[in-house]
Amino acid sequence: MSYQNIKSQSSEGICTITIDRPSKLNALNQETIKELHNAFKAAEENKKVKVIILTGSGEKAFVAGADISEFADFSVAQGEQLAAKGQAQLFDYVAHLSTPVIAAINGFALGGGLELAMSAHFRIASDNAKMGLPEVSLGVIPGYGGTQRLPQLVGKGRAMELIMTAGMIGANQALQYGLVNHVTPLDELIDFAEELARKIMRNSSVAIAAAISAINAGFEEGENGYDTEITQFGKCFGTADFKEGTSAFLEKRKPKFPGK
Ligand code: COA
Repeated sequence: MSYQNIKSQSSEGICTITIDRPSKLNALNQETIKELHNAFKAAEENKKVKVIILTGSGEKAFVAGADISEFADFSVAQGEQLAAKGQAQLFDYVAHLSTPVIAAINGFALGGGLELAMSAHFRIASDNAKMGLPEVSLGVIPGYGGTQRLPQLVGKGRAMELIMTAGMIGANQALQYGLVNHVTPLDELIDFAEELARKIMRNSSVAIAAAISAINAGFEEGENGYDTEITQFGKCFGTADFKEGTSAFLEKRKPKFPGK
């Protein structure tokens, strides 16, 4: 598939999706959101892809937010529609993929950019990264899940402060907050993400998908995470990966998971 605003490249089980509008600090316009959806969908459907790494091109920005020029003159109905469509097409979509998604934050992750990183299953950042949800400085609020995912990750008080002040935090403070799991020098960020991806790939992809579903369930309205865990746990017993994982352990060898 060919894209105008992103790049997607797969090799040895890792699909790297790079948002590529550096002249606009990789801001998310509608076309980019659509292309990202298509790239994530293609990666999820490709059985060879075991981990997805999401990053931004250039050395300055992961994503500097939703493209402000596209919604500056929107009405109430259009604003609501923008948030609903974006959440369904990209942000919720990514959060619920069964293929693990690592966001490698390589610079500014602001507004929709931080919301996209928070939709990924976890985040790492380069030491020059800066993160924030500055929407209230524009007279609007985060609309791509930021009011929900930021408090889940850093706690309600910190989220309230970050959103109300429209402030930015650096990579080390984000690490201290638990917003990112690791901080690396910029030129080591992708290697580090790939190293994590390779560790993940050693394990059963079916069990990982089940774990993502159970973890997500705990944060869904009307779902009981413990119940989902029980169901998903049981389902694992019917998989070829479970047979292989337990046999390999008992036979004192490394497992070769069939991924089903
Ligand atoms: N939407 C649209 N365009 C954006 C953008 C966004 N969210 N963020 C940056 N850009 C564009 C700028 O308009 C500029 O384009 P131009 O060269 O055609 O004028 C280009 O990207 C470079 O940005 P610039 O502001 O010149 O870079 P800077 O280094 O001076 O500042 C930021 C960097 C990130 C601090 C600044 O771009 C910024 O505050 N961006 C908006 C962040 C935001 O509020 N995001 C939430 C949106 S809901």
